[in-house]
This record gives sequence, structure tokens and C-alpha cells, in this order.
Amino acid sequence: MNANDFADRLTATAAETEALLERLLDGAALPGETARPGRLLDAMRHGALGGGKKLRPFLVAESAALFGVARAGALLAGCALELLHCYSLVHDDLPAMDNDDLRRGKPTVHKAFDEATAILAGDALLTLAFDIMAREAVHADAQVRIALVGALARASGIGGMAGGQMLDLAAEGRFEVKRALSESEIVTLQAMKTGALIRFACDAGAILGQADTPARASIARYGAAIGQAFQIADDLLDVEGDSAALGKAAGKDVTAGKATLVAILGVKGARAKLDQLIAEADAALAPFGAKADTLRATARFIAERRN
Ligand code: IPE
Ligand code: IPE
Ligand code: MG
Ligand code: MG
Ligand code: MG
Repeated sequence: MNANDFADRLTATAAETEALLERLLDGAALPGETARPGRLLDAMRHGALGGGKKLRPFLVAESAALFGVARAGALLAGCALELLHCYSLVHDDLPAMDNDDLRRGKPTVHKAFDEATAILAGDALLTLAFDIMAREAVHADAQVRIALVGALARASGIGGMAGGQMLDLAAEGRFEVKRALSESEIVTLQAMKTGALIRFACDAGAILGQADTPARASIARYGAAIGQAFQIADDLLDVEGDSAALGKAAGKDVTAGKATLVAILGVKGARAKLDQLIAEADAALAPFGAKADTLRATARFIAERRN
């Protein structure tokens, strides 16, 4: 699959995801809800709509396609994950965390609204993610939905994204004297803060498809490799990219004292690591043959992306 075909496919799925998110974030109260405060809804919509690559929903859809899963359920599961990802960005940007003013080319949620509203918008995006993942439209089999909800919780919580964010802030030296992290400590931190949700995106396709154990192991190996690659690429873009192309501030990680592989291996070393991880992702997909060409192209996209 060439880069243009890949870009078209990603754009098409991103548009489908955006349309679905738009419906999931309309003002209508659901059974069990009393009212939907307009300011909170507006802040959630600001954080979740109108931008972003939508890579995680794309991975869910493409991984699910590998196992012959109906697209509608996979897209809905992808939306649940995207909402959770958007919550992680809203909180990541808060003054108490990375203190960023720009996200996806727009003011961050706490800038467009206020800090308290941004905290609550993040909370409500996080819980909406689980509300959606539990819906029957994701998959007819309740066992499958329970497996998805459980795996998403694990990927997001103390042993996943939130835990990784804790390690990330600790590595800045905020809570104790700053200590240089080893390469393997950075790999662990990044596998948690970023890798866990990306790995989940890939695993979700295999869960939806009720794939056998060897296939699940292969897809998990692929997800781990591209998850690690994704944060290395993000850290390289922080050094080499510019704010206009990224839609977020560049050049902040060094000043903040972030623990990155770019900081300890240099740009060349980090790029070499990235190449190794893309090769690892390719190797993991070998059992699937040509069916996995889009996932192969996704790994290349992650390494070469410009925003
Ligand atoms: C940014 O994720 C945060 C990281 C985990 C590095 P993305 O680069 O996927 O952000 P969007 O969704 O495209 O804006
Ligand atoms: C964020 O990593 C990972 C998250 C869990 C949101 P970064 O802090 O490097 O992400 P950006 O650069 O702000 O998008
Ligand atoms: Mg951060
Ligand atoms: Mg950040
Ligand atoms: Mg970053």
C-alpha cells in the first residue's frame, strides 16, 4: 500500500469517526441522565471534535478488519477509545501537567473555557468512553463487551496511561530530586503513557474478532512495537517539528526536563530505534500475510508522520 492510498484510507475513517463522535456528543440526555449542562458539553466537544489524526479508531477498525469484524461495531469501539484519548489530552495540557495553550491548532480546553471546566470535561469524556464501549451496538456478545471494557480500563489506569503520566511527571523531578532515567525505564514509562492505549486499539480488533491465542499474541506484539514507536516519533517532532505544523507547542520537552529517548540517544539514535520498531511491527504481522498491508503502512506512517 503506497503512502497516498494510506492517507486516503486514514482520512476516510477519520471522517466517519468524526461524524459518529458528533452524534455521540449531541446535547440529548440519555436514559438515566437528568440534564446535560451546556458548558460541560461545549468543553467536551471542544476537546473531542474538529481535529486530531484519529489514529486509534483507525487502528481498531483495521485490526478488526483483519478478523472479519463488522465495521460499524469496530468504529463505535474506536470512538470510545478516541474519547478516552481526548480526555488524556485535555488533562495532559492542564497547567498542573504539561501546561500547554495550543492543541490541534486550537486553544486547549482550559484556555478556551477554564481549568475546572477542563477537569470536568476530561472526567466526562473518560466516563462516556466506558458508557459507549459497554453498548450492545459495539458487539452482540456481552462477553466480548466485558473483555473490551476490562482491557480499556487496564490500558487507561494506574498500570497504563495514568500510571505512565505519573512516571512522566516524576521524571521531570517534580516530586523528588531529579534522577536521569535509564533507557529501559524510559521505555517502560512510554509503554504505559502512550503505548497502552495504542496497544489496546490493536488488541480491540482481536477481541471483537474473538481471535485465537496465537493471533492475539501477534497483534499484541505489533501494538507494543507501534505504541513505543508512536511516542518516539512524538518526541522527535517536539525537537524537529514546528508548532504550526504540529498544532501544538514544539520544543518544550527539553525545557520541561522530560525523560525521552531523544534526550538520551540523540536524534539519530532515536530514529534508529524507530526503524527497529517498525521492522519489529512488520515481523509481528507476518502470520497475517497481505491482509495486514494497511497495518504495515500504519507502522510506516507512525514513523514518518509530520504532525
Ligand atoms: C498525542 O497523540 C499524544 C501522545 C500520545 C503522544 P496524537 O498525536 O495521536 O494526537 P491527535 O489525536 O492526533 O491530536
Ligand atoms: C502525552 O505525551 C501522552 C498522553 C497520555 C496524553 P505528551 O505530553 O508528549 O503528548 P503531547 O506532546 O502533549 O501531545
Ligand atoms: Mg505529557
Ligand atoms: Mg503534553
Ligand atoms: Mg509530546
